[in-house]
Amino acid sequence: MNLRDYIASIPNYPSEGIIFRDISPLMADGEAYRYATHQIVEYAKEKQIDMVVGPEARGFIVGCPVAYELGVGFAPVRKKGKLPRKTIEVSYDLEYGSDTLTIHEDAIKPGQRVLICDDLLATGGTIKATIELVEKLGGVVAGCAFLIELNDLNGREKIKDYDIITLMDY
Ligand code: PRP
Ligand code: ADE
Repeated sequence: MNLRDYIASIPNYPSEGIIFRDISPLMADGEAYRYATHQIVEYAKEKQIDMVVGPEARGFIVGCPVAYELGVGFAPVRKKGKLPRKTIEVSYDLEYGSDTLTIHEDAIKPGQRVLICDDLLATGGTIKATIELVEKLGGVVAGCAFLIELNDLNGREKIKDYDIITLMDY
């Protein structure tokens, strides 16, 4: 299956000069969604993952079915002000703007092996902040999985010490 057939590219969204890579056609197709999930599950299988972590919002779409298939839990990373209990936080830059990410302070137990999932690696700001949150809680980042990597933004360089898989690149 060619997953690229299920990605929509929208020029100048959300701002001039950005080509938005939209995964919703992939999610809308049961076979494509399952195939993409399966690729990540195969990557994660040998890594003895204890928890999957995904940043809001599209990281949930990718991470939750992977966690379900692996038979492990999922911990959400959310933008500041969205999680109801005690959190830790990290600020980060985006391809368009900046933000603060948070995680519940009991989301990961020290020593747990974590797979981080997201839809897309752009500048790497989101994944870097998510890695920092996991490590602050004592988690071990065993892998990072993305559907899409944007080559020009060189996000891979920011996380070169970590094991990553991306299913498509642009
Ligand atoms: C998008 C995308 C990734 C991140 C990638 O999320 O889903 O999480 O940006 O960019 P980066 O590598 O430059 O950090 P966004 O913050 O737009 O939030 P959303 O998923 O809620 O739309
Ligand atoms: N997140 C950051 N950059 C993006 C892009 N070009 N398309 C979709 N999501 C993104």
